[in-house]
Amino acid sequence: MARTTGTYRTGKVAGEEVRAFLPYPLPPKRPVLRIEGKLAEVHADAVAAITRLEVAGSMVPSPDWFLYGFVRKEAVISSQIEGTQATLEDIVTYEVTKKSERPADVEEVCNYVDALTSGRRELSSPKGLPLCTRLLCALHKILMTGVRGSEKQPGIIRKSQNWIGGSRPGNARFVPPPHTEVAEALAALEKWIHSDDPLPPLVRAGLAHVQFETIHPFLDGNGRIGRLLVSLLVEHWNLLSSPLLYLSLGFKRQQQEYYRRLDAVRSMGDWEGWTAYFLDCVRESADDGVTTAQRLFALVGTDRRKVFDHRTATLTSARLFELLPEHPILTLAKTMELLGATKPTAGKAMETLRHASILEEITGKKRDRIYAYRAYLDVLAEDTGTVPG
Ligand SMILES: Nc1ncnc2c1ncn2[C@@H]1O[C@H](COP(=O)(O)OP(=O)(O)O)[C@@H](O)[C@H]1O
Ligand SMILES: [Mg+2]
Repeated sequence: MARTTGTYRTGKVAGEEVRAFLPYPLPPKRPVLRIEGKLAEVHADAVAAITRLEVAGSMVPSPDWFLYGFVRKEAVISSQIEGTQATLEDIVTYEVTKKSERPADVEEVCNYVDALTSGRRELSSPKGLPLCTRLLCALHKILMTGVRGSEKQPGIIRKSQNWIGGSRPGNARFVPPPHTEVAEALAALEKWIHSDDPLPPLVRAGLAHVQFETIHPFLDGNGRIGRLLVSLLVEHWNLLSSPLLYLSLGFKRQQQEYYRRLDAVRSMGDWEGWTAYFLDCVRESADDGVTTAQRLFALVGTDRRKVFDHRTATLTSARLFELLPEHPILTLAKTMELLGATKPTAGKAMETLRHASILEEITGKKRDRIYAYRAYLDVLAEDTGTVPG
């Protein structure tokens, strides 16, 4: 389907002629986007997969049971799309040990988790910010704080022309709107998010993502904030009651297609093609989440029996075991804190879980030892290996 989705502004950057793209406000028009035929089927499949994910998330004792791992999985994969090398285990280990020096890659992923947490807090509290440009700037500030992002103007809408692909705006694959137009374009996006457009909310979350990427309001971090926006919208529009969907998995598996689909919206007005792609990524990620949840659930069931059957099992070791899904990496100090127990009691509980082959010591050191619930982390970390090259 061909339609025009914006206009080009010709201007000069460093003496060179540049054609910057200014998108029309959402929703897609002339013709309007219709969710019918094949698209309606893909949409129904995606919504059904999300519903299964919601059910999977509700079958466990604590609502935060999968949330801890799944949010971190999303943070790792979304950052990997942008080249981060940190692994899920790096992040979880860092969160427990809080070593003073924090590698930049780990910092980026931890910031992503913090930004998502902060966004959810704002949206759910009566005095918090609504979904608006100010909120996105606040989240960008959290995301970019630290070593690598500090020259990237954290929290600030860009004051210069940027570009995607190529070495300068003049030879870029895509040149987003001139910086003077960004505030207005974002205001229009915000207004549309709060309007009552009849398109289904999941489709709208996908459109909002493209629009955000096309505006590219920051000097860096646009991909991550744009994906975080989807996570927030999916929860805000009640498609899921917590951010269990690690959507970036679908984008990462079909990464070249992701860029092609974004391009095709601008160049051919192909909102239908984007929407089919986006919904397919949602379905794939949600299905993966369901499978992962089932496997983790089964694993914990089997391992729980191992704890009960162990001859040195105590109430404390049973309690510690139940905490593992939210704390798959532990130190003695962390265990003492979690259990509110003395060193000997905490140490004994950890020993029981180690003898039952549930916890494994991963440093090989005598001091500052770190213990991992390896089998659990292995299931959770699937598809989060860093991409070679
Ligand atoms: N051709 C394109 N049109 C619009 N957006 C694109 C295009 N290619 C890539 N993008 C978006 O730009 C993001 C990268 O922008 P960037 O500001 O570097 O974000 P981050 O620092 O999070 O990587 C990609 O993840 C994608 O969402
Ligand atoms: Mg980047």
